[in-house]
This record gives sequence, C-alpha cells and structure tokens, in this order.
Amino acid sequence: MLKPEIEDGPASHARLSGADPAFRADVIAGLTRRPRAIPARWFYDRRGSELFEAITDLPEYYPTRTETAILREASADIARLAGAGRAVIEFGSGSSTKTPILLGAVRPCAYVPIDISGEFLRESSRVLAAAHPGLEVIPLEADFMRPITLPPRIAEREKLGFFPGSTIGNMTPAMAIDLLRAMRASLGEGAMLVIGMDRIKDVAVLEHAYDDAAGVTAAFNLNLLERINRELDGTIPVDAFGHKAMWNDDRARVEMHLKAKRAVDFAIDGYRFAMAAGETIHTENSHKYGARDARILLRGGGWTPVADWTDPEGLFAIYLAEAQAVRAAP
Ligand code: AVI
Repeated sequence: MLKPEIEDGPASHARLSGADPAFRADVIAGLTRRPRAIPARWFYDRRGSELFEAITDLPEYYPTRTETAILREASADIARLAGAGRAVIEFGSGSSTKTPILLGAVRPCAYVPIDISGEFLRESSRVLAAAHPGLEVIPLEADFMRPITLPPRIAEREKLGFFPGSTIGNMTPAMAIDLLRAMRASLGEGAMLVIGMDRIKDVAVLEHAYDDAAGVTAAFNLNLLERINRELDGTIPVDAFGHKAMWNDDRARVEMHLKAKRAVDFAIDGYRFAMAAGETIHTENSHKYGARDARILLRGGGWTPVADWTDPEGLFAIYLAEAQAVRAAP
C-alpha cells in the first residue's frame, strides 16, 4: 500500500533560487501523478549529455552510426533533389559528424541551428563556423516546438530543414505532428525537410540498444535522479532504483523507466514522496516507425514525402519531404 504523499510548506523553496523552475515544476507534477513520469528533456544536463554521447558509441546503440552511414550515402541525392544553395535550418544545435556531411553536400547559402539551450548552441556553432570558413552561421536560441520567425535574409531564401537523430521518436505521435506542423510554419511552403526516424525491428535488438551491457544507458537514466538531488535539493536514494527498458508493441516504442527496488521515501524541495517496491517512474519513449507509418506521420504534419533512404538491414531511415501547397482532398 502506498503511503500518502505529504506536501509540506514552501519554506524550503527559497533554497532553490538557482534551480530551473520548469524542471522543478515538471518533477513535482510528474512524481505526483499516476503513472509517474518525468519528461525526457531533463536528461540533458552536462553529465546527461556526456552520457548520451557515450551511448552513441555503444555497440548495441545502432541508430547514430547507421544514420551517419545512410546520410553519407544519400547526401549527394539529397543535394540533387533539394537543389544547391538553400539555407539549412537545423532543429537542434547540430552534431559534429552529421551536420558537416549535409552541409558539404548541399553547399547552403547559410546555416541556422535552432536550440533552446544557448550554451550548447553557441559552442557547436563556433566549432561549425571554424570548420566551414565562408559559411554564414546564424545560431537562433528558440523553442522549435513552436513556429519561429526566421531572420528576414533567411526567410526570403529557399530552405532545407534538418532534424536528424530520430529525436522525433522521443515525442508521442500527437506531439510529433504538432512539431512537424510548427516546422512547416517556420520554414514555409516550398521548404524541404531531411529527417531521421528509427525503424521497428527485432525486439531484442531494440531492448539491448536501450539496456547495454556496459550499463551506460542505465547511468544515463539514473542521472536524472542524481540531477534532481543536485539541483532540486532531493534526497532520492538513487541506489534503490534500477534501469528498465522495454518494448511496448501497442505503442511501437521503447520505454525507459526507473524502478524502485524496494519501498522508498524521499523529499524534493520540501515535497515528500513514497514509492512502493516495483513502482516505476516513466522517463522516456522512443517511438519507432515502419516505412509507411513514417510517411503517414510526415503527411499528418504537412510534409509530402519525396524520397527515403535506409541501410542494408533496414534499421534506420532518412526521409526527404516537401512542404507542398495544400490540395483539396475528397
Ligand atoms: C535522443 N534520442 C533520439 C535517443 C533515443 O534513442 O531515443 C535518446 C536515448 N535514450 C536512451 N538511449 C538513447
């Protein structure tokens, strides 16, 4: 039986003046509701970002290396189909491997990375600008989940959006469609989009990709609890939690959870929580899309699929889509 959760007074809140209020609100609300869930975006503090980088090199985690290989193969086709000289708008602060492959092929008139985290954005933009002398790099600190007003000299150019990494998979289909629509509104009619999506495959391959033998993904998941303790004055006994990754076939997604190994009590910023042994906190969804599912998702978001590329094993796919004029439908 669950112990009642006691909200104790706001007296301790003053200590958290440096904490991100959105993080605090998501954690308190997420641990209070049932099932308990905390948005995956809070994984990415400095330690979490380092652990994610380590994940991308793991033998079990095929998406990064597979998508990079597909992009190497497909980039000349993408450049031919999209035409050279578009402004490349990347949703996210850019990757040191994938972004240069696309930029090298499409020879853009400008590169605009958009990210909500100014720190990562400025860092990666500096690196990218240094590697591409002569390319105009215009970092934009903004939340790309909402339509964005591009600088006028970019707005008037032809545009190519770039959203690699299967990050769209971390959203529910409803959120993914909202995001695709926001991207269409940001880029406008006639824009094109290069997007990576992970495919549905053998369950063991999927589950091992999110529960590796070296325990890096477990550390990544558990770091969320460490972060809560560090930043929100938490007393979570992290060693009382285990990492769990499982395929949810009905939802076509890998889910990550943090599972209490025993009954636990803890406080976060003065709020008390109790979890029974075996109870979980849902921390991430990673949706996978078959070829037809992906095309329907794109169309639902206002993008017409133009071409797609996959690896020989069909593990991952890259889609090129276009924001065509809306036609009347029966
Ligand atoms: C960032 N995102 C696409 C990764 C994924 O595969 O869903 C995050 C991740 N979580 C555990 N491993 C990787």
